Amino acid sequence: MDRADRTYALSMDDSDLNADTSLDPVFDPARDFRLDGKVLVVTGGGNGIGRAIAHAACRSGAMVHVLDRDAEAGARVVGELKEHGSAESHLLDITDEPAVEKVMRNIAAVRGIDVLVNNAGLAIRKPATELSREEWQRVVDVNLTGLFLCARTAARHMITSRGGAVINMASIMGLSGGGLYPNISYQATKGAVVNLTRALAVEWAPHGIRVNAIAPTWVRTEFIRPILDNPELIERIHGLTPLRRIAEPTDIAAAAIYLASPASRMVTGHILAVDGGFLAQ
Ligand SMILES: NC(=O)c1ccc[n+]([C@@H]2O[C@H](COP(=O)([O-])OP(=O)(O)OC[C@H]3O[C@@H](n4cnc5c(N)ncnc54)[C@H](O)[C@@H]3O)[C@@H](O)[C@H]2O)c1
Repeated sequence: MDRADRTYALSMDDSDLNADTSLDPVFDPARDFRLDGKVLVVTGGGNGIGRAIAHAACRSGAMVHVLDRDAEAGARVVGELKEHGSAESHLLDITDEPAVEKVMRNIAAVRGIDVLVNNAGLAIRKPATELSREEWQRVVDVNLTGLFLCARTAARHMITSRGGAVINMASIMGLSGGGLYPNISYQATKGAVVNLTRALAVEWAPHGIRVNAIAPTWVRTEFIRPILDNPELIERIHGLTPLRRIAEPTDIAAAAIYLASPASRMVTGHILAVDGGFLAQ
């Protein structure tokens, strides 16, 4: 049996994996939705959804590490968090493998990594026939390869500390062909994130690592600035959404806190749509 197999077999037998079942049988929302003492890492935490998650996690008691390729944005968020708890920012492009390993190693060396929110992403919205190979590759590199590198690296640390939670940011466009405007590389990569989430959940469950994804609808951030600036498009989105509004970053942060917290301890491999009913139709 090689080392990886032995670790797997040992973990499968280890009663510690059931440690969560020894929790107080009374569900206490004031305790079980909190992240006190946890170390949470959020990529793309300098803006938009990642910033809202950093704020919510900090208020839930987590030590928050904001990773972003935009150093100024990351530092700004950490400045905002100072009065609510502890936070640090790290300059990181998630497509830079050695840098991902170095940043995660430095964070893990202090108090480990309990939660990774794999949130950084980008879109190049163009008709498929006009999308260059380089543009396709840029989206694949960030949304899929970078997300994988962060998950893999964080999981190596989580395995040594016997568990954790990974939350991947997918999209309703990972579960739908869309239709309002062309966005093929985004839809392809977010679809891949959906199934990567399921496969990693199965592979890492024996190590006590839960892997889930959030599939947001359109969220009010700079990411969709051209859409926010187009009233006709916004009206069409409202028409396609049973709850008749786009999401706010805090709507997504609420889902992330649930998936990070002990409240979701029996949930893994799940894709949580936060979409006002878009996918229910
Ligand atoms: N806003 C939406 O409508 C929406 C809907 C569904 C899913 N999402 C997803 O949510 C995530 C966050 O989106 P947002 O709306 O907050 O976007 P945003 O543009 O407001 O913020 C994204 C952040 O990620 C950072 N980032 C981008 N590439 C990076 C890289 N290679 N390395 C490190 N950091 C990087 C940016 O600097 C920025 O701070 C993305 O994965 C996006 O696909 C967004």
